[in-house]
Amino acid sequence: MTTMTGRITGLDIDKRGDPWLTELAAIRHEFEERMAQLLPDSANGSDALATAMRAGTLGAGKRMRPLLLMLVARDLGCASPALVDIACAVEMVHAASLILDDMPCMDNAMLRRGQPTIHVQFGEDVAILASVALLSRAFGVLAEAPGIPPAVRARLVAKLAETVGTQGLVRGQFEDLRASGQRSEQEIATTNELKTGVLLGVSVDMAAILAETDDCVAESLRSFALAAGHAFQIRDDFQDDPANDTSVTGKDTGKDLGKATLTNVLGFEEAKKRLATHLDEADRYLTSAIGSKQRTRRFVDTLFGHGMDFRFARSPRAGAYDTHQVRH
Ligand code: IPE
Ligand code: IPE
Ligand code: MG
Ligand code: MG
Ligand code: MG
Repeated sequence: MTTMTGRITGLDIDKRGDPWLTELAAIRHEFEERMAQLLPDSANGSDALATAMRAGTLGAGKRMRPLLLMLVARDLGCASPALVDIACAVEMVHAASLILDDMPCMDNAMLRRGQPTIHVQFGEDVAILASVALLSRAFGVLAEAPGIPPAVRARLVAKLAETVGTQGLVRGQFEDLRASGQRSEQEIATTNELKTGVLLGVSVDMAAILAETDDCVAESLRSFALAAGHAFQIRDDFQDDPANDTSVTGKDTGKDLGKATLTNVLGFEEAKKRLATHLDEADRYLTSAIGSKQRTRRFVDTLFGHGMDFRFARSPRAGAYDTHQVRH
């Protein structure tokens, strides 16, 4: 999606000629088409609530969670007709969390995915309601997704509910906002796992549930996703450096100043080592779950760049992950 500031914030995978990126772009296209159908109609923009819901979800995101879900499911040999709908449900939860995260009472952010944040565009009242409506819609989509046996559907709903709630994302955001005083590395990592890791975790959990895979594989996949989540949040924190160009990051910088992030507590070099360790760990779990030559592995490579020094990694894309312009 082209944004106000150019093609900056999505995962740019539309390179012609590379079969892998073409496949990834096709999956993303399928996902985005379905997402647009599952959201309420905006009545040409006259329904501000529906317009805000659409703006909060259909903007230029990387689609990391839905792509992960769909790729893991494919790697597990699952071709359920419900896959794309379930991926949409997870992305709706993510979008809802971003709308709230940006609000003045939380991170007070002005820019998201290269556009003014939802409360800036539509007002705080509409932003809160759009977020609640997206959460509700996510569960509605799960309830209606085609062709899922009742017991499997019940497990999917329970998983997503647990991920959002007081032992998941909401708890993580609460800790992130209200934690005071000195925080240990372990405490920050726990918060990161709750605010970010669990949504990656549920993406692979749901793929494993739908594929009716065995517990051992499902367990390794979850460990993979949680490790990837730790790496992802550390890299997200790097992007917050005020020296970075918001036309590249697509979102505000400097929001973490004075906050207990791993980068602030450990320093950039140490945090970078942690990031590398988490990616290695993620790779080991993924290999033990589904082998090494799978789509999910390629996706992680595409997402994180080739090589650990991602600041200078040659990237097949020019999106938020084309971080060569991002200084640390
Ligand atoms: C941002 O997530 C919030 C974090 C968990 C760090 P993403 O970086 O996946 O955001 P989009 O969806 O690509 O905009
Ligand atoms: C937010 O983490 C994680 C969420 C659950 C939304 P951040 O506050 O660091 O995410 P960004 O940097 O605003 O995307
Ligand atoms: Mg935040
Ligand atoms: Mg934020
Ligand atoms: Mg951040």
